[in-house]
Amino acid sequence: MHQICVLISGGGSNLAALIAAIHCYQWDIRINSVIADRACAGKQHAIAAHIPFHLVDRTLDKTTFAEQLIATVPPETELIVLAGFLSIIPPSLLHHFPRIINIHPSLLPKFGGAGMYGLKVHQAVIAAGERESGCTVHWVNQEIDGGAILAQNRVSVFPDDTPEQLQQRILAYEHQLLPATVARLCAQLPPFHQ
Ligand code: GRF
Repeated sequence: MHQICVLISGGGSNLAALIAAIHCYQWDIRINSVIADRACAGKQHAIAAHIPFHLVDRTLDKTTFAEQLIATVPPETELIVLAGFLSIIPPSLLHHFPRIINIHPSLLPKFGGAGMYGLKVHQAVIAAGERESGCTVHWVNQEIDGGAILAQNRVSVFPDDTPEQLQQRILAYEHQLLPATVARLCAQLPPFHQ
């Protein structure tokens, strides 16, 4: 059983999609914990699925935040999944857990980097007159949204789209892309023995 830990900050719809896919396809994957950096609606998905939930407060000083994150991620975790986690990943977490992936709601490297999150991404895509956007799953490194790309889904942008409409359309594609990528990565990992 592969062990993954999911970090969230918001609604947790990607977490819900991951939980549903693992259940539906009977993947050999266990979400061992869900960790949030703030009070958020996504907690309910963890609770409903009986997954241990933890809060590591983002308002802590940087060093304590990093220490608490490292102490909270179960040590047997093979892959950390950032599913709408808004805090910057501390370098020390990456040092302890080098396998961290993130999902971003654009076709990286376009519309990524500092300040590009939530509706801001979709506002920028529409303002730039893009005909196409999408979502990306990538490895996390020290650069915001800068790690190697693992998978992308392309999504049309329609002329009269609002940022909210585009966000919702892309989110539906995220819900396919993230579970599929997690399954692919876990299948490549050696079996985990407790
Ligand atoms: C998604 O759009 C994801 O790409 C981004 O944050 C959003 C999280 O949504 N990183 P949810 O909390 O999974 O509903």
